[in-house]
Amino acid sequence: MTGPMVHSITIDGVQVSAAEGETILQVARQNDIDIPTLCNLEGISATGQCRLCMVEVKGTNRLVASCTAAAEDGMEIVTSNERIDRYRRMIIELLFAERNHICAVCVANGHCDLQAMAQKLGVNHIEFDCLHPELKVDASHPQFEVDHNRCILCGRCVRVCDEIEGAHTRDFRNRGINTLIITDFDTPWGESQTCTNCGKCVHVCPTGALAEKGRSVAEMQKRRQFLPYLVMRREGVR
Ligand code: FES
Repeated sequence: MTGPMVHSITIDGVQVSAAEGETILQVARQNDIDIPTLCNLEGISATGQCRLCMVEVKGTNRLVASCTAAAEDGMEIVTSNERIDRYRRMIIELLFAERNHICAVCVANGHCDLQAMAQKLGVNHIEFDCLHPELKVDASHPQFEVDHNRCILCGRCVRVCDEIEGAHTRDFRNRGINTLIITDFDTPWGESQTCTNCGKCVHVCPTGALAEKGRSVAEMQKRRQFLPYLVMRREGVR
């Protein structure tokens, strides 16, 4: 009988091993190598949406999303250099430019993953024209609200609702710059037939797009402890 296949890879010059099927990001984290992420959240599936976790793999000029790319034997990976860091900053700038992220008046100010990532990567201005779309705020739910102006379309809410809560209340509508997160068949949240009012989507949301009602500026702290706990309990009963 053979055991699980183990690959040997190099990340930033350090030789590490990876089990079959593990992603580059998982292996990096196991070895305390930091790769910035935004759409990725431990406990829900990886979809490679934000591209912030991109890395260089020797032998290909294309940057690879480390959260979805499997580690393969012999890979030589670089997680940070001038090119990668520049593109990461550009991604953050484009996210800020695409909608309305005025941190000073946001419920999640000080508790926002986008804001924290901008600080971490040294993004202190935006070189692109801000689009400032006027998008809806849906406050029809008795406990929660969604402000599409703050949404970065990471899809964490869609995945946690589908994969952890099992309701699949949320999904995407449209494509590209017109993409929006919707409830059921694009009905107001308060009229949803499937929402269980669990609030998981609110707490995995990286920004102030999903928030509890009644929160003022900087008051919306996200509680995510439930996610690793639920995943652990489920794995325990399999
Ligand atoms: Fe990998 Fe977003 S964290 S693409």
